[in-house]
Amino acid sequence: MKTVTVSGLLAKKQAGEKITALTAYDASFAKMFDEQGIDAMLIGDSLGMVLQGEADTLPVTVEDIAYHTRAVRRGTQRAFVLADMPFMSYSTPPYAYRNAATLMAAGASMVKLEGGSWLAETVTGLVQRGVPVCAHLGLTPQSVHVFGGFKVQGREQDKADTLLKEALALQEAGAQLLVLECVPAALGKAVADKLTIPVIGIGAGKDTDGQILVMHDMFGISANYMPKFSKNYLAETGDMRKAVKKYIDDVHAGEFPSAAHSFE
Ligand code: KIV
Ligand code: NA
Repeated sequence: MKTVTVSGLLAKKQAGEKITALTAYDASFAKMFDEQGIDAMLIGDSLGMVLQGEADTLPVTVEDIAYHTRAVRRGTQRAFVLADMPFMSYSTPPYAYRNAATLMAAGASMVKLEGGSWLAETVTGLVQRGVPVCAHLGLTPQSVHVFGGFKVQGREQDKADTLLKEALALQEAGAQLLVLECVPAALGKAVADKLTIPVIGIGAGKDTDGQILVMHDMFGISANYMPKFSKNYLAETGDMRKAVKKYIDDVHAGEFPSAAHSFE
């Protein structure tokens, strides 16, 4: 079996093939998603909300992410595994290097950081030290208290222009992947078209290079609420494996997300 690498993900973008991703937090689900053919799995700091029942992702620690990364790594044979750097774990470059080392040693093949061009130095420094980086723009949940809630980002033209500039700056700094969360579909398309690196969307419309969902949302089992951009594939299929397969097939076919799961 050929394992998915960062160059494999880039090749998919270049071939116009959609990239499929889910969050995963344990070995059993990781194995299930891997067997169904998912390309990438993220140990997201969303685990603070869906596993720990917190109101946001801020209480999550590096050790929490490392624990779940070890479990996911043990359950994975093929998929690319990336791990979130939690709140304040990359507030300075040296702090980022130290915490990224913990997550890479736990089994991640890439780390993800939330934020714009202020992170350029950190991104470059991580890549120079052997840590591939996924950037994360749009609705960056670690900044929920700055935004004043979980709100769609980049609706105004000047905000959309700034986001596109920041995406280019992060690519220039060495980021090899970008997650774009909760932005209008037109902005999702513009960013994916402009960047050479793959752009994985969540609530960013159907024209990004791939899609990611929080696994609990995809199964419709999240403790709190179901975001508009997500879809309950378990309700539709009645079986977890079939739900994962249907999600993957729908992303490949361009059928997910539909307009009902996107923002204008
Ligand atoms: O923590 C998470 O699950 C994420 C995804 C929503 C991209 O960052
Ligand atoms: Na996250």
